[in-house]
Amino acid sequence: MQARVTRRAALGAGAAALIAPALAAPALAQGRPARIGLILPMTGPFASTGRQVEAAVRLYLRQRGESFGGRRLEILLRDDTGTAPEVTRRLAQELVVRDKVQALAGFGLTPLAFAAAPVATEAKLPMVVMAAATSAIVQRSPFILRTSFTLPQVTAPIAEWALRERVQTAATLVADYAPGLDAERVFKARFTGGGGRVPLELRTPLRNPDYAPFLQRVRDAKPEALFIFVPSGEGAAVMKQFAERGLAEAGVRLIGTGDVVDDDLLNDMGRPALGAVTSHHYSAAHDSPENKAYVQGFIAANPGMRPNFMSVGGWDGMQLIAEALQATGGGEGEALLAAMKGRSWTSPRGPITIDAETRDIVQDVYIRRVEERDGQLWNIEFDRLPAMRDPGT
Ligand code: PHB
Repeated sequence: MQARVTRRAALGAGAAALIAPALAAPALAQGRPARIGLILPMTGPFASTGRQVEAAVRLYLRQRGESFGGRRLEILLRDDTGTAPEVTRRLAQELVVRDKVQALAGFGLTPLAFAAAPVATEAKLPMVVMAAATSAIVQRSPFILRTSFTLPQVTAPIAEWALRERVQTAATLVADYAPGLDAERVFKARFTGGGGRVPLELRTPLRNPDYAPFLQRVRDAKPEALFIFVPSGEGAAVMKQFAERGLAEAGVRLIGTGDVVDDDLLNDMGRPALGAVTSHHYSAAHDSPENKAYVQGFIAANPGMRPNFMSVGGWDGMQLIAEALQATGGGEGEALLAAMKGRSWTSPRGPITIDAETRDIVQDVYIRRVEERDGQLWNIEFDRLPAMRDPGT
């Protein structure tokens, strides 16, 4: 609540707008750049996540300006390669101690966010999770806020949709680490709770997965649907095996969270992806003026790329940082954190709030189907669950 009041003052017209930030700001911080330590997988198997988030962060600064609350935002990008939590932790420590950043941001995968959490707590610095999506992340530090999504938040709606479609049996296939286990648990609880049956539960390795033997087992079990969660970047490999094993011909419908049909890769997946139904918080096809402007700006600045859900986590992470800096007149530490809590705005994905209590994102979740429009594949939204919180299970 307090954050809202401060924000109104900062954005208000006339003298109040000039005075409020000046009063809120620690005198020494004014004028110095505000440094953001952005830790992302820029190389390795999850480099697409790093590329997407970085592109959105740079687009935000280009479009919205670089100074907020009297301080120029400086991005210190570090590549943690996506697979080594100890590297992420060391980079976070260096950014805090040597580079004296005002906030940590990024975090492409859950184990990396877990690794950095104690660093944020000790340094008392806001840590903005722009990508990782295991439910428990926000509980690892009172300094964490999230602008991505949670697996339970996007899994529950597709389980409910499958029940409404009278699907009776669904197998699950998830990446074998924290977000996959969240997805598996929530899908099973919701689907069996509504009378469905889960005859087969498969977990694929996070590193160098070969999906062929797993999908062969699904084909042999012949469920009516296959629920899939794999992290962003893996979708094309899964889809290829889904097609090669002839699962669609065997009558198995592909459903899942939107990670498997991520907009960055979707066009390369081709026909096998057509008709896949998933639930997620962002589609590049989302029909709103904010999203049209976002997609257009993103593609113009990054030829050959299409923004996916990872990019929008980066965009909104910057919005959160920029608004809080503005509201506090360039504040730091716990003041900056307090100003981040409870904020609401219209994202390219739709309306979002960073809940003041949980520090997690509350957002609309959409049910979408892969369709071809003008020679491209898109996730076309056809149903919406407004203002979803992380449901836990
Ligand atoms: C995660 O590790 O939290 C994660 C990564 C990629 C996704 C979703 C979740 O697409």
